[in-house]
Amino acid sequence: MSRARRALLYVPGDDLHKIHKAAALDADCVCMDMEDGVALNRKDEARQTIREALQTLDFGRSERLARINPVGSGLEAQDLAAVLPAAPDGIVIPKVESAAQIVQVDRAIADYEARAGLPAGGIALLAVVESARAIVDLAQIAGAAPRLEALIFGAEDYAGDTGATRTLEGWEVFYARSAVVTHAAAFNLQAIDMVYINFKDTAGLLREAQAGAGMAFSGKQVIHPSQVEPVQQAFTPSEAEIENARRVVSAFEAHQAAGVGAFALDGKMIDAPVIKAARRVLERARAAG
Ligand code: COA
Ligand code: MG
Repeated sequence: MSRARRALLYVPGDDLHKIHKAAALDADCVCMDMEDGVALNRKDEARQTIREALQTLDFGRSERLARINPVGSGLEAQDLAAVLPAAPDGIVIPKVESAAQIVQVDRAIADYEARAGLPAGGIALLAVVESARAIVDLAQIAGAAPRLEALIFGAEDYAGDTGATRTLEGWEVFYARSAVVTHAAAFNLQAIDMVYINFKDTAGLLREAQAGAGMAFSGKQVIHPSQVEPVQQAFTPSEAEIENARRVVSAFEAHQAAGVGAFALDGKMIDAPVIKAARRVLERARAAG
């Protein structure tokens, strides 16, 4: 099982002050950005700053990720060349449109690992899917490389691509979100939900995070320090959920031993799929520590 990725915090790669802050927030993942969070004339500054941060800063237990520019932008090779020697835990590829783009980055990383004498496959890949084309081709994208550990859904870019207007309810991106979690489950990947851009609205953030957790997302992208803790809470099973899952599993085992498949607990039917869900709750609780 992959590590917990409940909150994935973006931080502009050219802003050392914010990177310092991000490193100390106890976020599951800190993603230092070279793409859309960085102006075109600051890409080099971002590369150097991320490299230095990776080499000198203590990120605690946070996963250290770097987001490169899209494959085909003409910037991605320099991005990789700058950050790989500083040993990030993983690379995030934005605006993924095809399996071939993932294969291309996978090979570049594999070449680097071989040259540097690192274990093959140690550096993770996470792919942001944020266009109509990517959603239509998810099965190819999700199966592109064993190094790929997570699909990330980018709602703002997706709406921009399809022409949809973003709303608080989010029905305009619901099919795409649903496709992302379904493909992630089918390919045994994690799925990381969209950003809640109104970072002053914690109640709204919590609602959206809980809905995402209920859809089986593993976590959510965040853009502000205040979003880290509420999101990590929302993606951690509560004490009551854990206790209930334990009761269900132990009652199931007792009934199985007595030769009974389906039974009632607290007025609800319990059978194999319910047990599977309960075991998943316990698994998520373990991954979150
Ligand atoms: N990571 C780390 N620290 C951050 C942060 C982030 N993503 N966003 C804000 N902070 C820091 C600020 O620097 C500030 O620190 P200070 O008090 O020491 O000066 C503090 O948290 C409070 O920030 P605040 O004043 O509320 O926000 P802001 O106006 O400085 O920044 C944004 C707002 C949206 C520009 C900022 O949150 C941000 O850059 N987010 C990430 C954007 C990004 O990467 N986008 C691309 C991926 S979608
Ligand atoms: Mg995007």
